[in-house]
Amino acid sequence: MATTDTYRVSILGKESIHCGFHLIPYIVGTVLDTLPASTYVLITDINIAALHLDAFRSEFSDAFARSGKSSRLLTHVVPPGETSKSREGKAQIEDFLLLNKCTRDSVILALGGGVIGDLVGFVAATFMRGVRFVQIPTTLLAMVDSSVGGKTAIDTPHGKNLIGAFWQPEYIFIDVAFLETLPAREFSNGMAEVIKTAAIWTESEFASLESRSAEIFAAIQTPSANYSGRTKATRSAAQELLLSVIVGSISVKAYIVTNDERELTGLRNLVNFGHTIGHAIEAVLTPSMLHGECVSIGMILEAEVSRQLGKLGQVGLGRLTRCLKAYNLPVSLADARITNLPGSKLLTMERLLDIMKIDKKNSGPEKKIVLLAAIGTTVEQKASVVPDSVIAKTLAEAAKVVPDVPAKNPVRMATPGSKSLSNRALILAALGRGTCRLTNLLHSDDTQVMMAALQELKGASFAWEDGGETLVVHGGEGSLSVPPKGHEIYLGNAGTAARFLTTVCTLAQPSDSAPTTVITGNARMKQRPIGPLVEALRENGTGIDYLESDGCLPLSIAPAGLKGGHIRLAASVSSQYVSSILLCAPYAGEAVTLELTGGQVISQPYIDMTIAMMKTFGVEVTREVDKMTGKPRDIYTIPQSTYHNPPEYSIESDASSATYPLAIAAMTGSTCTISNIGSASLQGDAMFAKQVLEPMGCIVTQTETETTVQGPPIGQLKAIGLIDMEPMTDAFLTASVLAAVAVGSPLAGRELSDDTPSTTTRIVGIANQRVKECNRIRAMIDQLAKFGVETKELDDGLEIYGRPIAKLKEGVSVHCYDDHRVAMAFSVLGSAIKDTIIEEKRCVEKTWPNWWDDLENKIGLKVEGVELGNATADASASTLLPSGDAPSAIIIGMRGSGKTYIGQLAAATLEWPFIDADAYFEEKYPIGVRKYVQENGWPAFRAAETDILKELFDKFPTRHIISLGGGIVETPEARDVLKTYSKHGPVVHIVRQIDEVVEYLGAESSRPAYGEPITDVFKRREPWFAECCNYEFINHTTVATVPAGSMSPIEVDGQLFPAVPSRSTRDEVARFFGHITGQSPNLAPNLAHGKRSYFLSLTYPDVTPALSFLEDITAGVDAIELRVDLLRTTKQFETVGPHTPPRAFVADQIAAIRKKTSLPIVFTARTASQGGSFPDGAVKEAFELFELAIRLAVEYVDVEISWPEQDIRGLISRKGYSHIIASWHDWSGKMQWGSPEVDTIFHVADNFGDIIKIVGKANSFEDNLTLRQFAAHAAGSPSSKPLLAINMGIEGQLSRILNTTFSPVTHPLLPNKAAPGQLSFVEIQTALHLIGQLPAKKFYIFGKPIAHSMSPALHNTGFQSLGLPYTYEIFETDDVDHEVRFILTSPDFGGASVTIPFKRDIMAHLDELSPEAQAIGAVNTIIPRIKADGSQMLYGDNTDWLGIRSVVRARLPPSVHALGPALVIGAGGTARAAIYALHALGASPIYIFNRTRSSAEALVHAIPGAQVEVIDIIDGWPADAAPTVIVSTVPASATTTDEANSNTLLLTPSIFSAEEGVVVDMAYRPAKTPLLTLAQTKPKWETVMGLDVLLEQGYQQFELWTGRKCPRGVVAKQVWQRYQAA
Ligand SMILES: NC(=O)c1ccc[n+]([C@@H]2O[C@H](COP(=O)([O-])OP(=O)(O)OC[C@H]3O[C@@H](n4cnc5c(N)ncnc54)[C@H](O)[C@@H]3O)[C@@H](O)[C@H]2O)c1
Ligand SMILES: [Zn+2]
Repeated sequence: MATTDTYRVSILGKESIHCGFHLIPYIVGTVLDTLPASTYVLITDINIAALHLDAFRSEFSDAFARSGKSSRLLTHVVPPGETSKSREGKAQIEDFLLLNKCTRDSVILALGGGVIGDLVGFVAATFMRGVRFVQIPTTLLAMVDSSVGGKTAIDTPHGKNLIGAFWQPEYIFIDVAFLETLPAREFSNGMAEVIKTAAIWTESEFASLESRSAEIFAAIQTPSANYSGRTKATRSAAQELLLSVIVGSISVKAYIVTNDERELTGLRNLVNFGHTIGHAIEAVLTPSMLHGECVSIGMILEAEVSRQLGKLGQVGLGRLTRCLKAYNLPVSLADARITNLPGSKLLTMERLLDIMKIDKKNSGPEKKIVLLAAIGTTVEQKASVVPDSVIAKTLAEAAKVVPDVPAKNPVRMATPGSKSLSNRALILAALGRGTCRLTNLLHSDDTQVMMAALQELKGASFAWEDGGETLVVHGGEGSLSVPPKGHEIYLGNAGTAARFLTTVCTLAQPSDSAPTTVITGNARMKQRPIGPLVEALRENGTGIDYLESDGCLPLSIAPAGLKGGHIRLAASVSSQYVSSILLCAPYAGEAVTLELTGGQVISQPYIDMTIAMMKTFGVEVTREVDKMTGKPRDIYTIPQSTYHNPPEYSIESDASSATYPLAIAAMTGSTCTISNIGSASLQGDAMFAKQVLEPMGCIVTQTETETTVQGPPIGQLKAIGLIDMEPMTDAFLTASVLAAVAVGSPLAGRELSDDTPSTTTRIVGIANQRVKECNRIRAMIDQLAKFGVETKELDDGLEIYGRPIAKLKEGVSVHCYDDHRVAMAFSVLGSAIKDTIIEEKRCVEKTWPNWWDDLENKIGLKVEGVELGNATADASASTLLPSGDAPSAIIIGMRGSGKTYIGQLAAATLEWPFIDADAYFEEKYPIGVRKYVQENGWPAFRAAETDILKELFDKFPTRHIISLGGGIVETPEARDVLKTYSKHGPVVHIVRQIDEVVEYLGAESSRPAYGEPITDVFKRREPWFAECCNYEFINHTTVATVPAGSMSPIEVDGQLFPAVPSRSTRDEVARFFGHITGQSPNLAPNLAHGKRSYFLSLTYPDVTPALSFLEDITAGVDAIELRVDLLRTTKQFETVGPHTPPRAFVADQIAAIRKKTSLPIVFTARTASQGGSFPDGAVKEAFELFELAIRLAVEYVDVEISWPEQDIRGLISRKGYSHIIASWHDWSGKMQWGSPEVDTIFHVADNFGDIIKIVGKANSFEDNLTLRQFAAHAAGSPSSKPLLAINMGIEGQLSRILNTTFSPVTHPLLPNKAAPGQLSFVEIQTALHLIGQLPAKKFYIFGKPIAHSMSPALHNTGFQSLGLPYTYEIFETDDVDHEVRFILTSPDFGGASVTIPFKRDIMAHLDELSPEAQAIGAVNTIIPRIKADGSQMLYGDNTDWLGIRSVVRARLPPSVHALGPALVIGAGGTARAAIYALHALGASPIYIFNRTRSSAEALVHAIPGAQVEVIDIIDGWPADAAPTVIVSTVPASATTTDEANSNTLLLTPSIFSAEEGVVVDMAYRPAKTPLLTLAQTKPKWETVMGLDVLLEQGYQQFELWTGRKCPRGVVAKQVWQRYQAA
């Protein structure tokens, strides 16, 4: 056996763990020598087998040959991955062992990661009641964790590791050389456990992990040739380091296991640090995230719990964070590796807490967490009990400060080290000579990346002392070198680091491995400017290239660049450019003269700070003085020199941070002392107390090193007046929130001279704050506005108009733009204003990671965790009031936009009263609007108008339509009232184009004239209308270029065809208002009832050309999908690739579709990555469009779950009665139905959607079967929301056929399919029939004489064109006898029409009648229905009245909102239906004329509620009594226009006394009856033929039977041809 050097670790009293490199011969030798057996079985997985199995095989066979033993080696390979760790996986191995006649004396070797170890270990534990086994771990995780301790297990669908045993291996061979082939991510995965062990046990071990990450990575990245490392002599330093790290970690675990093998004392629980929360995360994200990755985040969160409880300091937490990051492990749930996963949306606080409930460590309901006390030490020698509320606070994404006087008043505290001083000190010490100990250094991103970068540049080395309180810097004296090729210096979003390091990089010396140094950052960093600095350095001779966009990172910087001499720098944007050059200047080629150009130099104090610190490090900078004036000039001279490091340098606290506790004292009337900043401070922000808080009314006492502030009583802060904050720009946010509540007048001499209010604070000198982490001036303006605080933006600052605290809005949710200062400033405001939510609480981590803990523990204000999802969910609940309480709908818009017209129509359809605010005004002020304005002026009128607005809202809160005056939006107060209202009730903006409005208003004069051009008024008010409303009703009359539907029959080739009338505004108003008020949401009924539903995908770039045949292509479907991502304006036609269509264009497209159909619209913007044309990253654009859809009352919005959660939740909170389709599309074909991935997608979609849509791609026919299994499984889940699940591709067609919810269909007339494999509606029906899912049915018409009935043509044409396997036959009979009964009860009976003379007789044979059929006393439609118990019942309905109602409604003149008088001629059965229909339309009175008066009189009370009057003459109406609707139910032959014909009813033109109206003749023949012929002499009367009514009622019948809309176009054409042929 080759000599092999190993370390041995003892566990449970045996030295069974052997560690080293290249151990295969050693392993085989040891096993054969000490574990004699007849059979050795080596089990591994496919990946490892490919790399290492042969080596084992040949070693074994050599050894067998050498020893002459008759043993055998069996090998068995299983698939890699967690799925092998199952009952089936275990059984397979057992079968293998049994088949190969293995006996109790066998030895099993488990070669692999934790999966193999756990699985094979469990097999060994139970095979033949337990056989010997050996662990040969090949992953780092397995080496340091799973192989040590004897835990073995398999998974079941109920959870991981639920079945298993403790079974100790004979040996654990740790061959570290296996790590050379391990993927890097798996290595990091294992490092999480290594770091964990060090963190709970040994500080020194942790320190070495912390500082030597680069070497440790190098050790696994460089393959060891010739078995180097096998012996100590051949082992490299890197190998030795790696080995010692692993052995160290194993030793700890071995010690713990030895002392608590079976988890009895709780000691073994210590290794579960990070695992309580980590496991919960893993449960949600597995298999996308690995165990160690989840534990890494778990460790940080659990350490935060410890910090929150005051047990762990920020230094420890910072070290842990940075150490994990150094091994590429994620440290927060905001990590892009996680947020990019759909499953990340399931990581809610509730879900995680819920999963934690079933942690094995728990005792009862209490959760246990291992609490860290410091790096290397835990609070207890076991996991500690932690209340849920504490964990919840850590997990919550947002925070809320509970307003109060601080409990720790008077507060005394220090704040974190200054960021500016920390950054400078770090650069100075690194460039200096000698060792410097830095204390109170801020542990921040900037210092972190700076240290990493300086190490990468070999510019200095660093070490920690005092548990990380002190950083020891060994200065490199300015000698740096270009990092190796491919090693970019990554700075994240650390701005200061980027600016300082840019010049530092020019000092690097050339190296062989790379020509230049590349510095880069994250996406936001790549937008932050660095141009002026690069310009100055380039001018000085350094080669610097921009690698992406000009003026920003990434940069490629040539070495040895800083020549020195005269350097000119534009210094009006950032003082950090100046500091950057100053700090490096001593190391330039020659002495530097730095001249600052560009006018006003920004932030001089920071420049002075740099110069002062350079002096402390031994280099004196001279600033030139103007000899004439004695004033300093912006020219500095820096000698060539080297910094001399002072042995110790203590960093002052951050003055900007100090402003927050001080401001809390000011805000809450309490006292706060900051212990380490005083008047001697170099930091500009140290002036905040004296220059901002004192003038605001605080008592400020400052010594050289301390500052104390005592606030005035709450509510008594004074406005500042004018203040120039140029010396302390970062503090302006703090000043702004105080100014927002400062209502006292400024001190004398500080008042503003202009006419601003006395509560104004005008902050200037802060223009640079626009280019910080965000545009901070805008941020403050926008966020303060949410509190109701008004502000004004200035060129170099802003004005804030203070309001009393009580007037500020409560419950505001503040967006922080990921900017720590915004978050902390608004938490100051939160200490006074109730329920202020700081949305991104973690952004404070940049400068004050424990801000929230310090607020609670040091200042004494309670902080609560807030889950944002819930906040918005509540909001959404409030928008959906129970229908009994429907809030009134408010109508706003320009004068002349159609508010009154639309409003009255809406009122009529909803049967709600209509209130016109103008009329209401005139009631209250009888002089009228015009006069009122003339007498009192506009402002008084506006005030009165606002009062009326509030009054109306109070008086008519529900079930009214309230139309407001056009000018209502002119005052901010009224706008506020409207905006508040729109949070729970509909505010509808009637949108009309300006030219149409102008044209309309031309004639009008009753209201006050504008006194300014109407277009100006329009432009001013449009944005206000938009901001106040939550719905938009588009009322352009010229919306689409559809030929206006004519109401009269069209004549083609001498033949008459009925026109399919265009939808009227009336229909659209009914749909729109019915939907948004929830009175009749326009949702697809089939979908709601769980029946098969379909939508047609409109794949046009512009839908208008399709509108003329929309009727045909939508035949059968339940909705229309508008693929918004495919829309293109004529201008965009040429563009290729993803694009976003303009909002106005989309709105017009929807309005155009609405002109043609009431079908619900599905609004889809499919992204490029999910197979559409919408740009992936365009979040803002997408949500603007989704928002638009909701505003236009689009019924369904398809939202891909990959969009940001916050945006989705926002949309949900505003969706009203519309539904969200939460969707996911996988085009790769990799998605497996039934995999955990799809489960995750399903759960995420279930969280957001009313409908869940998951689309995959079929690779084989079987994929459709797994899909169905998944769908069946999902249907059984507690939520069971409608699920749309299909497979794309030709192979996936079956899934489209079987899918039940909103199956997407195409139509042969469409330009192209929305997706490959898409079928048409007809194709799907055919297929369903063939596979037995849509049985054939028979329909009949009963009556006599019916030989010439048009109904067969009508229904059979409809069935055929929808592909339904149904037939419709005539059944002529003399009476309703047993033959009819036989038909009615046959299994294939689909339904029947009933006509004269059986409409009454049939009733006795039916089980149930509709209320309408009962009222009319006639049944014309029989529908078989299935009862709940599965038996069939017969239902009788009446569609005659529906036919009459719809022909009339479609033709009513637009001016008619509510019907007046109507006339029915005749008194038979049809007359009853006519009265019913007219009553339903609101007609009153309904006159009835019949030659035999008594039959007419019988009808007077026939229809309950209808006001029926019998009359004897039908013409010569008085003006106010003339009917506008006339329905004749008598045969044509019974009427005449010929006076000579005295036997029949004489019709005269004065029947039509009303100006306009609709006349219906129910007689079929002739087509033009005398009544209709006469009506045609009246141009404003619409005529309806009997056949039109027949068709209409037939369509309704068709829909009742099939659940599908009848394809009217084809059917009508067919029926008319028959009619004319007969
Ligand atoms: N028993 C315990 O105490 C304990 C503790 C922690 C984890 N576990 C279990 O361990 C399992 C996870 O173990 P894991 O992280 O090692 O996963 P793993 O066994 O699935 O290995 C990870 C991947 O790396 C591959 N691989 C392994 N070694 C390799 C090598 N040297 N070169 C190239 N590829 C290699 C594997 O084929 C696999 O694809 C989980 O099931 C977990 O429950 C058990
Ligand atoms: Zn673990």
